[in-house]
Amino acid sequence: MKGEGKTLFKSKLKWVGLVGLALSVFSLFTHFLLARYAVEGFSEYQASITIFFWRPIFEIADLSTNTPLYRRLWGPVRQLESLYPHATPKGSYAAPILQTNGFVFVRIRGGFHEIRNSISDVVVVARLLNATLVIPEIQSTTSSKGISSEFKSFAYLYNEDQFIAALAKDVRIVKTLPKNLKGARRKKEIPLFKVSRSVSPYFYRRHVLPVLNRHSVVELVISDGGCLQPPGLQTVTGEKRNPATNFKLRV
Ligand SMILES: *[C@@H]1O[C@H](CO)[C@@H](O)[C@H](O)[C@H]1NC(C)=O
Repeated sequence: MKGEGKTLFKSKLKWVGLVGLALSVFSLFTHFLLARYAVEGFSEYQASITIFFWRPIFEIADLSTNTPLYRRLWGPVRQLESLYPHATPKGSYAAPILQTNGFVFVRIRGGFHEIRNSISDVVVVARLLNATLVIPEIQSTTSSKGISSEFKSFAYLYNEDQFIAALAKDVRIVKTLPKNLKGARRKKEIPLFKVSRSVSPYFYRRHVLPVLNRHSVVELVISDGGCLQPPGLQTVTGEKRNPATNFKLRV
């Protein structure tokens, strides 16, 4: 009886050893897999880093309107209904009217994505108000993930001239405020609105427009990742968001 018990114990030990061995092999295998995956992840990371080096290339590139590079960057967008129902423009819509209601000066705070979203929103808002958009001032929160330390200005995101040219049929854009208004802004004499991404077009027409008409300028401060409520804006957003969306998808 005793001897039998011993052999039983020994064979049990063998099984335990076998299971242990199997587990070790499995763990080793998993480690190899993980290591491989991590290497791939790393190279993807590298690829995303190189995005930030695009700009210098485009800066020296010939960006006149009939080059393939220009078309690739600023050409028509493919059909995007499946992705975003309002992203494809309608056939035609009116160019901005000559008469401007004034300047919309924008300060955008936030991380990379907030800033990108806000930019397309302000384009829509400027159009909505028949206003002239001043190239937004960017205040990136440097603690945000994915932001290069070089990212301190609008020009880091977009080539300003191309941005203005590409949106010429949607909204008038200028690089800076006229001198007198710049001075007024420095003295904090410009009416200021802190707007969130849930603000409606009605708000802009009802509250911002009268102030804009009176002062010829308003300042919008955006720190919420946008300044206009999402869909439901059908035509205005659908049509006017397009050029920015076009770029957004490539960023
Ligand atoms: C902007 O201009 C269009 C076309 O003239 C006009 O229909 C619209 O009422 C104007 N909107 C504002 C806010 O001035």
